[in-house]
Amino acid sequence: MASLVTGGAGYIGSHTAVALHETGRDVVVIDNFSNSGPKAVDALRVLTTPDLAFVEADLLDSDAVRRVFRDHDIDEVIHFAACKAVGESVAKPLDYYRNNLGSTIGLVEAMAEYEVSRLVFSSSCTVYGQPDEIPVTEAAPTGAESPYGWTKYMSEQILTDAAAALPLDAVLLRYFNPVGAHPSGTIGEDPNGIPNNLVPFVMQVAIGRMEKVRVFGTDYDTPDGSGVRDYIHVMDLAEAHVAALDALASGLSGAVPINIGTGVGSSVLEVIKAASDAVGAEIPFEVVDRRPGDIAKTWAATDYAAEVLGWRATRDLNEMLRDHWRWQSQNPNGFE
Ligand code: NAD
Ligand code: WQD
Repeated sequence: MASLVTGGAGYIGSHTAVALHETGRDVVVIDNFSNSGPKAVDALRVLTTPDLAFVEADLLDSDAVRRVFRDHDIDEVIHFAACKAVGESVAKPLDYYRNNLGSTIGLVEAMAEYEVSRLVFSSSCTVYGQPDEIPVTEAAPTGAESPYGWTKYMSEQILTDAAAALPLDAVLLRYFNPVGAHPSGTIGEDPNGIPNNLVPFVMQVAIGRMEKVRVFGTDYDTPDGSGVRDYIHVMDLAEAHVAALDALASGLSGAVPINIGTGVGSSVLEVIKAASDAVGAEIPFEVVDRRPGDIAKTWAATDYAAEVLGWRATRDLNEMLRDHWRWQSQNPNGFE
């Protein structure tokens, strides 16, 4: 019996593969390296086992996906593989719809053919936009403001409809803002080019690749005026996936959306302060205009995850930044 991890060479998938391995599961990873590379798999094998099963293939290639199910005794699936850059999705909407929806549909078809019914899907807090009530619960209205966001919204709908019609049970994990790295510093986030997200950008300033952090607005309705998000340690997130698979194996059924956050909101300025503490040096920043499309604040209601998965995040912002910095300082050029 094995767990299939799509997109397992990527940031969250690789950390989750480690967490799955630690439970004694056999792990099979499939990735097309569109946003990762073979060195991430080498590092993953250091933290797991040198013979970790890896298949380089595109999820849009339905023959290749079926071969994975034929060649391995898969009994559960975590589907991370997707394109995830909000801005790029506005410029290339069809690429995003094709990849993110096509991969999900093809995967579920192969699961049905091979009678695999347990699926954990990577959704996102982006489906809430700016929620009216914070902390945001799973019952809050959903929608999207970018093609990327729509692919998550639509994937949730596709999986909900499929779960009603097929022998399929799915946990739809709505992640808040994942940061941090494995505490060994062996794997971590390795964005291509100039990072869009706050913490990877802050870390590139810390290692001297960028001059200063641009804080996108300090005129929001938040305690210090900068944007507030629910940052979650990637290892907490990885453990939430293990808990979701365990819940499915214990009989959780249907298509169940669950928030994965800490329940704590942190501002941009608080993140920069925690990063400075982790690095041991002041991280320079300047305040600039708001970034179009940004919301002021959000953080997760976490009781439903605790109730259904028996899981809560345990790592705080300081630990997230310390671990992210260990990865970044040990690997200034990522996996290069
Ligand atoms: P990532 O880009 O690091 O990992 C995704 C992996 O999927 C990459 O290795 C990429 O090569 C692979 N991939 C993409 N399309 C593929 C295809 N057609 N066939 C095979 N492999 C393919 O991204 P991540 O940060 O690890 O995100 C994982 C998932 O979590 C994504 O679905 C993303 O939308 C979702 N998510 C991420 C965040 C975040 O901030 N990182 C937040 C919420 C949700
Ligand atoms: C966090 C805060 C910025 C960069 C994105 C996606 C979302 C989800 C998570 C996938 C905000 C501020 C940022 C910078 C800054 N991904 N900031 N200077 O926007 O909450 O969410 O990643 O599903 O869909 O939209 O994350 O890290 O970009 O921004 O001041 O250089 O940091 O304004 O307040 P965001 P982020």
